[in-house]
Amino acid sequence: MNGLKDKRVLITGASSGIGAGMARVLAREGCRLVLHFNRNQAGIEKTLKAVTELGAEATILQCDFRQPETLNGFFKQAWSVFEGLDGLVNNAGIVSKTTALNDADGTQFLETMAVNLHAPYLLSTAFAQACILAKQPGAIVNNSSIHAQATCEWFSAYAASKAGLDAMSKVHAVEWGQHQIRVNVLAPGVVPVERTDKILSHPKMAKKWHDKIPAGRYGTTDEMGEATAYLLSDATAWMTGSVLTLDGGLIARGNYPSR
Ligand SMILES: NC(=O)c1ccc[n+]([C@@H]2O[C@H](COP(=O)([O-])OP(=O)(O)OC[C@H]3O[C@@H](n4cnc5c(N)ncnc54)[C@H](OP(=O)(O)O)[C@@H]3O)[C@@H](O)[C@H]2O)c1
Repeated sequence: MNGLKDKRVLITGASSGIGAGMARVLAREGCRLVLHFNRNQAGIEKTLKAVTELGAEATILQCDFRQPETLNGFFKQAWSVFEGLDGLVNNAGIVSKTTALNDADGTQFLETMAVNLHAPYLLSTAFAQACILAKQPGAIVNNSSIHAQATCEWFSAYAASKAGLDAMSKVHAVEWGQHQIRVNVLAPGVVPVERTDKILSHPKMAKKWHDKIPAGRYGTTDEMGEATAYLLSDATAWMTGSVLTLDGGLIARGNYPSR
């Protein structure tokens, strides 16, 4: 894709799932990658091996986003790997299911906010500040979810964090447009990853979802990677503050029954 060759990109949460898919696609596009993980050392090494085999220069960095005081140091390390960054992909996230009975003290709510919203806020502001000081353009992709647009039971913390991420992205796009820093949102629908594969591949569950999704299938991690590459590329040079929904038409259908 146009303008991606040699671009330096930090991808958070690249040790599995969508983040690993993003890493593979960006590696194919010739990007140089800083790959973040938290606990899954085996997963990040697998991603590193995959991108290296695709010819990409890459390095791995660990950070637990539940500790906001460590984020600034983490970003500085990421920035220094290739002496700057052109892109930031805020992908790491927790998919929490909170109910009145299991999270009455709000612990899971705060943890979800720390990883899904506070960390992208801190990394985005550090990235924008560094780009402004270096007098260079930049592109941010925030991985949100269709839960920011329409949701269901148990997702109060998750949906709130993702709706917050969408709103924050728009404000950052407005604020940083003058510095040629673009901020866009990727909103995936249902994408099987290692974490969900067993549940989603069960025939009953697959049928339930496939019947609801107009495209008749789940999305893939590679498709999320392709969309991320598009949002980082020159093809979207005039696109900022937008939400790109990739969900096979699930949200567009809403609750209309099949005919
Ligand atoms: N899969 C879907 O259907 C779907 C749909 C919509 C949106 N999304 C979004 O896509 C993103 C990736 O999710 P996924 O589905 O690919 O799940 P995943 O495979 O579980 O990936 C989650 C990533 O986030 C990292 N992470 C988790 N807790 C962290 C923490 N405390 N500090 C730093 N990093 C942490 C994980 O790192 P470690 O494993 O190394 O700890 C992992 O790399 C999330 O933002 C999610 O909300 C997913």
